[in-house]
Amino acid sequence: MQIKFSEKTRSFKLDTAGATYLMQIGPSGELRHLYYGAAISDDDAVLELGTRHGKASFSSHPEGLGAEDSLDLVPLEFSTFGSGDQRMTAAALRKVSGTSVTSSVYRSHSIFQGKKPLPGLPASFAPDTEMQTLEITMTDGFSGADFVLSYSIFEDSDVIARSIRVENTTDAPLVVERLMSAQIDFHSSEYDLIYLQGRWARERQAVRRPLAPGRQGFRSSRGSTGHQYNPGFVLASPSATESVGDAYGMLLMYSGNYTADIETDQYGTARAMIGINPENFSWTLAPGEQFQTPEALVLFSPDGLGGLSRQSHRFLMEHVIRSPWKHVKRPILVNNWEATYFDFDDRKIYEIAKTAATLGIEMLVLDDGWFGKRDDDHSSLGDWFVNRDKIGDLGELVRRINDLHMKFGLWFEPEMISEKSNLYQQHPDWVLTIPGFRKSIGRDQMVLDMSRPEVVDYLFETIAGILHSANIEYIKWDMNRNLTEIHSAVLPAERQKEVAHRYVLGVYALHERLLKEFPNLLIEGCSGGGGRFDAGMLYYAPQIWCSDDTDALERVSIQLGTSLFYPSASMGAHVSVCPNHQTGRTVSFETRGTVALAGTFGYELDLTRLSDEDRELVKRQVKEYHRYNDLIREGSFHRLTEGFGTGTLSVWSWVSQNRKRVLVTAVRKTGVPCGHDCVRRIRLRGLDPRACYVFSDTGTALHGDTLMNAGFTLDGLTRDASSRLYYLEVR
Ligand code: GLA
Repeated sequence: MQIKFSEKTRSFKLDTAGATYLMQIGPSGELRHLYYGAAISDDDAVLELGTRHGKASFSSHPEGLGAEDSLDLVPLEFSTFGSGDQRMTAAALRKVSGTSVTSSVYRSHSIFQGKKPLPGLPASFAPDTEMQTLEITMTDGFSGADFVLSYSIFEDSDVIARSIRVENTTDAPLVVERLMSAQIDFHSSEYDLIYLQGRWARERQAVRRPLAPGRQGFRSSRGSTGHQYNPGFVLASPSATESVGDAYGMLLMYSGNYTADIETDQYGTARAMIGINPENFSWTLAPGEQFQTPEALVLFSPDGLGGLSRQSHRFLMEHVIRSPWKHVKRPILVNNWEATYFDFDDRKIYEIAKTAATLGIEMLVLDDGWFGKRDDDHSSLGDWFVNRDKIGDLGELVRRINDLHMKFGLWFEPEMISEKSNLYQQHPDWVLTIPGFRKSIGRDQMVLDMSRPEVVDYLFETIAGILHSANIEYIKWDMNRNLTEIHSAVLPAERQKEVAHRYVLGVYALHERLLKEFPNLLIEGCSGGGGRFDAGMLYYAPQIWCSDDTDALERVSIQLGTSLFYPSASMGAHVSVCPNHQTGRTVSFETRGTVALAGTFGYELDLTRLSDEDRELVKRQVKEYHRYNDLIREGSFHRLTEGFGTGTLSVWSWVSQNRKRVLVTAVRKTGVPCGHDCVRRIRLRGLDPRACYVFSDTGTALHGDTLMNAGFTLDGLTRDASSRLYYLEVR
């Protein structure tokens, strides 16, 4: 790991173990992007990459320079609006009484160990000795404000953590109209774009398509990351597979409105950027104030999509997820939602816990409906007080459950408010709404104005009060609708476009305060399933409920899509009842267990109604969880079939860090009675070629090189929804 500045060529070189990133200061002070990719030794060999030749009469150039220096042509590290670069740009500042024309001219830089904190925002971390940062200050020639571009590199990773801070060093107010977290100008547009698309109960389906001329991308204006897209994408060479080929990624560590854009230009190059969605966004900076963007993780792997995913998994586990639970086996939980919905009382909950305890389950999670007067989804959000008529004394219930040697977890939806609630009677202005304009309702609820510190204070006091009142070791933090009428009652007109970002800062602040008060609290993020599954949330919550769709077959593509960036240890996955509540499909108990094992494991069904046979299967699955969870949580993940679980057969594996243990999972969605696809060779990856691996079921022993090159035969998986686990250990 090394960051170097060459006085001679005025270039910056960032080297991680496997990658190089090169930039150069150009003749008008602009910062040009030279190279990003597999590690190279010679920086001056690629200096000409900063130059492009085009017909520049329609691409103007800075006064005094030549056509080849047009800012519309050259690959830029940081592009600004309105002063020569006609492509989409990363930044626009407006003087309160002026235009949005912005420029960017190198002023200074510094290189130091460690990294500055990002106030109020989640950010990657490592001991100072294991990370280095380059900060480059670029001045806007028009307003005089400074942009500080930050690049941090890490000893044990090829990921680069980037962000930008703008400092109003002038004596007049400025408005930030657009500021991306990171931009990369690729020298070619011959890439496939891979991203995650979906909807409620069908999140994060991987899509792959070639870049096309023009602008492409996706965004959220929902106030949250959303079910529809995930704030990250990959650009991979068209021939890249799971195991070979260059793959670049950008992943935003943010949980609010974002945009991810790629523009291929007239010369066949591509500009990619990611950051806060500028739609309905601006931020006023008084003299002396700063605005900090969220962090973006920039990834590169020459080892295909699998290599990129593993890099992301490891980075998120080591440098983003903070929870003391991240390297710990999480308690196997049973959640009462699909078992009872709102129809429960303390007796019923205790019965489920009692049965769970006999099966080896370790935690009871009481879901929605325990507070206020909530017996359906029409009331009480915001009234975080125990409904004693329904569950009696919470402390007593938790004690009885703890006496069964089970932990206790509780559901909250902090950011929401029901019209039918005491909180709304007391504070109607705490809702995001525009005075005099009709309200939008979703699931009969409205959204609290988390941009207001008193709202965050109220939520902290009430939630902390409940958590202090009983031994609650886990919370499920839900968020069941998106933001509309994004307007705060307390901000002046010129600051209303700050509300969506201030909302996210409020959500982060509440997490931060709760974790400070309860450092060992295990938080599971949730948003109508996986509507807010992002690296920002993972900073606080080491696991996130993947989807409200608990159908095992649907879960294959949801979980494999999620694995594009996110580690198995972060994915909430449960065994639920059949016929499945979302799809009506019946899948064997074994396959449901096999698929749920691939995440943080648990159950979401009425255990008191299980057949004897299924009870035995639960016990077996609990054993499997204890046997394999270390491997699943800490191992390297490999998608052994292409297509992110969208094909009829999906096979994936985890390999332990010392390469001595391997777990392979195969799931067939639709049966094939007879055909070559029902007997298939599966080539493993990531093994020690010289080591001899033994299959736990048959005792067959094969070397790593045989398993990786010739593979082993997967047979017998001919039925709809059939599955197999194979476990191998080095002899
Ligand atoms: C959301 C969650 C579910 C459940 C319900 C409760 O939909 O994703 O798991 O908690 O809310 O209302």
